[in-house]
Amino acid sequence: MQPQFDPIIDGILEQGYGVDDHFLSSDEVTALARRLRERREQGQFRAAGVGNQNTLIEKQIRGDEILWLDQATATPEEQTFLNRIGEFVQYVNQTCYLGLRDFEFHYALYPAGTFYKRHLDQFRTDSRRRLSVICYLNPDWQETDGGQLALYLPQPDGTEQTITLAPTAGRLVCFESGKLEHEVLPATRERLSVTGWLKN
Ligand code: OGA
Ligand code: MN
Repeated sequence: MQPQFDPIIDGILEQGYGVDDHFLSSDEVTALARRLRERREQGQFRAAGVGNQNTLIEKQIRGDEILWLDQATATPEEQTFLNRIGEFVQYVNQTCYLGLRDFEFHYALYPAGTFYKRHLDQFRTDSRRRLSVICYLNPDWQETDGGQLALYLPQPDGTEQTITLAPTAGRLVCFESGKLEHEVLPATRERLSVTGWLKN
């Protein structure tokens, strides 16, 4: 039983997206953000790509730099994060029967001024991504810093509602990868996250 995950799951079922503002403690955020910056200084990050193979560098579409997490080389705080995600996956499988079998996560760093235009996380050739998960690592984020995640929620009457969520430290956002178009708005300061997909 992991009832602490219920609000995330209820959110997805009832409004199309789930939020937990305290998925990570502030100590966990600090440790992950420090590790992210250390790995970036070591030259481990690459410009993120677009397209089916994620190989096209297209700064007019997305400007973040990423590094995939790897269980084999995960540091203690990365292992703690991946274990928490593993618990979440188990709980989703027990309560929602999505048949999740796998997950993949990467660090993402958006330099000031960069963005990720409106998109869907599922590729036509890879429908294994069922749930998108984003965890933010940005202490003291202000509304004026921008960098919100915009979610475009289809309404029953055919219109669309736009929700924006600030990338505040410890917050997790989760939604169905194949259903919800979304966008990262430009920020005035560096924006850090761990982003991933729970897959069949
Ligand atoms: C993505 C994405 C959202 C965010 O990496 O596909 O949409 O808020 N990220 O970082
Ligand atoms: Mn996305």
